[in-house]
Amino acid sequence: MQPERLNIGLIGTGTIGRVHAENLAYRVPGAALAWVADVNPTAVREVAGRFQVPHATTDYHEVLADPDVDAVVICSSTHTHARITGEAAEAGKHIFCEKPIDYSLPRIDEALRLVEKKGVKLQVGFNRRFDPNFARVRQAVASGEIGEPHLIHIVSRDPEPPTPEYVKTSGGIFMDMTIHDFDMARYLVGSEVVEIYAGGGVRIDPEIGAAGDLDTVLLLLKFADGTLGTIDNSEKAAYGYDQRVEVFGSQGAVQIGNNYPNAAVLSTARSIHRDRPLYFFIERYADSYIAEMRSFIDSVANDRPVLVTGEDARFPVVMGLAARKSYDENRPVRLSEIG
Ligand SMILES: NC(=O)c1ccc[n+]([C@@H]2O[C@H](COP(=O)([O-])OP(=O)(O)OC[C@H]3O[C@@H](n4cnc5c(N)ncnc54)[C@H](O)[C@@H]3O)[C@@H](O)[C@H]2O)c1
Repeated sequence: MQPERLNIGLIGTGTIGRVHAENLAYRVPGAALAWVADVNPTAVREVAGRFQVPHATTDYHEVLADPDVDAVVICSSTHTHARITGEAAEAGKHIFCEKPIDYSLPRIDEALRLVEKKGVKLQVGFNRRFDPNFARVRQAVASGEIGEPHLIHIVSRDPEPPTPEYVKTSGGIFMDMTIHDFDMARYLVGSEVVEIYAGGGVRIDPEIGAAGDLDTVLLLLKFADGTLGTIDNSEKAAYGYDQRVEVFGSQGAVQIGNNYPNAAVLSTARSIHRDRPLYFFIERYADSYIAEMRSFIDSVANDRPVLVTGEDARFPVVMGLAARKSYDENRPVRLSEIG
């Protein structure tokens, strides 16, 4: 019999780890935040104190060794995800892992093999699937309301670029930022991408270029069902976080715009304007982080399939590798070239 509340160990108490820690502590019935772990002792102590977490450690192996822990939530830096996922699976823990699961396909495949072997659940943090706006776009496509999809346009721009320090372990723009849009593209259209042509540049921060990354990219996607798509990413939009999508089909179109902190429109003799969109992902997607975690806990507690699977974790990484290859070689790349 399952315990009344699942004991959760959260690994990585940085930006997104704190969001999930707060949700697990206060907003996810059925979950008890039992452990927090981070290599940074100050960060882990602070988060444990803030959310009254009984156990804190700088070595996540302690979390995995605790037989009372039912599941782990992996929020550490990207390059640690596949390793910790594999170790957690070996320890028999169910796993929620932040995106991307890794940027190396051999490491991902090994982690997925261990998850399969041990029969534990794995859900990856593609939280936008749990956002009501994106969910309505999916519904409009899946139900046939807009007919057969022909085009998808995704605009996804951040209000500020990552630090060069963060870029060192993030895997770069395609793995860190565009990965959400890759997930949305295949999820919203309901068909797999077969080819990507990526252009890119460094238009915002030369240090990002010096770290070998890009801060501005534009991608052309071709889907197996014939749909064409674009993804437009900038790491710095002067007017704030810009998250828009349109799917155009044979019977119509569905689009979503930005979410705002209020609905006020200010009209004067000079202009008509409104406040800027919700600042960044923590504000814009706050509800989706709660919904994805409730869904994960429900899947574990009631032995239901997770809504974002290992395959959903892997495929966007293949897309990211294809995008980088396309940019490097300045040509369209078939996903079958990647594996
Ligand atoms: N789904 C989303 O919307 C979303 C948003 C932000 C970040 N993320 C993902 O979450 C991950 C973390 O991003 P972040 O912005 O919170 O980064 P961050 O740098 O703020 O935090 C990462 C934390 O992990 C810790 N850490 C690193 N190695 C560790 C290890 N071996 N064991 C324990 N702790 C370790 C670091 O000390 C740091 O505190 C990234 O993979 C990122 O892509 C997802």
